[in-house]
Formats: sequence, structure tokens, C-alpha cells
Amino acid sequence: MLVYARQMREDFARFMMEYQFAVDEVLTKVTILREEFRHLHRYNPIEHVASRIKTPDSILEKVSRKQCAPTLPSIRENITDIAGVRITCSFIADTYRILEALTSQDDVRVVDLKDYIAHPKSNGYKSLHAIIEIPVFLSTGAVPVTVEVQIRTVAMDFWASLEHKIFYKYNGAVPGHLATDLTEAAAAAEQLDHRMEQLHAEVHGPAGSYDGDQPAAPQLDEALLHRLWELSRRTTESP
Ligand code: GTP
Ligand code: MG
Repeated sequence: MLVYARQMREDFARFMMEYQFAVDEVLTKVTILREEFRHLHRYNPIEHVASRIKTPDSILEKVSRKQCAPTLPSIRENITDIAGVRITCSFIADTYRILEALTSQDDVRVVDLKDYIAHPKSNGYKSLHAIIEIPVFLSTGAVPVTVEVQIRTVAMDFWASLEHKIFYKYNGAVPGHLATDLTEAAAAAEQLDHRMEQLHAEVHGPAGSYDGDQPAAPQLDEALLHRLWELSRRTTESP
């Protein structure tokens, strides 16, 4: 019995470790995208990245809520948000750009995609949700691990964390007037996103094309060019 319990604890620890590795993999991917983007466009589309692994308690709570078998294979299959990464972007266009860049990678398999930006929840919640599967390479070989990635703007994130606090404070039964306030706040967040995007476009060029952000062509130094031309003429001219 004791041996069995020890084995179970060992298996569970390994199970959780795989999710932590998967999060690390996704974080590396996000860092690469962020740095490359900054290098190419002199612009950072990502404001903030956060990640978390569900606690064992929270996993068990979800197992009983979803009424799935409490075995590791069943948990692996049914609970897709054990590993979570949240990416907060500056602008709406960036959320789609990051989603596309991440999900189009060869080792990323998209299990599920929800666009709550184009189709917000009835309470006003907006975000892009991608359930992805990425390989984690262990000594025994590669194991596919599921990660939930949420991508949203700063304004959407602000709203979501406020809504989350209110939702928990009232145990899910948010009073009518607060629900109305939240819906209005969501509309205000949406307006803010659009105004910010407009403002950004005015300063840096239209969103969607980063032409305006590309490093300006260096000023041509005419005197230097002339000297070069002189030099090349002299060296190529037959004596
Ligand atoms: P869960 O069983 O809770 O994971 O929901 P689901 O399977 O219907 O998936 P969904 O994609 O709708 O939500 C997944 C996660 O998105 C949640 O765990 C939250 O982190 C976030 N989320 C979804 N809806 C809301 C919402 O109305 N408000 C806030 N603040 N967060 C939300
Ligand atoms: Mg969830």
C-alpha cells in the first residue's frame, strides 16, 4: 500500500513537471517572437506575459466539476488548462498577430481556438483562447503536453481581472446593477482599444502594417558616396 502511494505521488510529480516544462517551452517561444519583433520593427507588441500551473487542489476541484475519471490519462485529456500562459498585448491587431505567429509553428498543434474578441461573452469578456499541444522532450522521448494560451489587450486584461474579482466576491451571483456596470465598462475598454489603436496608427502608420515602425533608411552621406564612386572609378579604369 505504502509502495503504491509512493508510486502515485511520484507519477503525479512527473505529470506536473511535464506541464511546467510545456509552459517553459511556450514562454521561450513568446520571448523569441517578442525579441524578433522588436528587432525587426523597433516595436514591442507584448506588454506582459504571465504563466501559471494549476494547483493540485484546483485540478481535483475541476475533476469533480467536470465529472471526469480521477486518473492521470483522463485528467490529461479532459483538463486542458493545467498549464496556462497569458499574453497581454498593446493593441488588438497584435493579439491576432501573436496568435498566428505562435499557432503556425510546426511543433504546435492547435486543439481548440476561441475568438472572444470577435465574439465576446455575454458579460463582455474578450480574449483569444488557444488550447495548444506542444512536445516536451524527456529522456524517455517526446510527450505532447496541452497548454492554454490567452491573448488579450491591456484594456481587455484590466476588465477581465476586475470582472474576476467581482465574480468571486459575489460567488458567481453578480448583482444586476454591477453586471450592467461591467457591461458598460467592457464597452469603454473596447472604445479605449480602438482610440489607442488609432492614435498609434497616426504616429507610427496604420496597424496591420508595420511599415511606419521600420527603421528609417539611413541618411545617405553624399560626400562619402561621391568618394566611393571616385574610388571605384579610379580602381576599375584601365591605367
Ligand atoms: P473553464 O472550464 O472555466 O476553463 O471554461 P471553458 O472550458 O468554458 O473555457 P473558456 O475558454 O470559456 O474559459 C477559459 C478561461 O478563460 C477561464 O478559466 C478564465 O481564465 C477565462 N475566462 C473565460 N470567461 C471569462 C469571464 O467571463 N471572465 C473572466 N474574468 N475570465 C474568463
Ligand atoms: Mg479554465
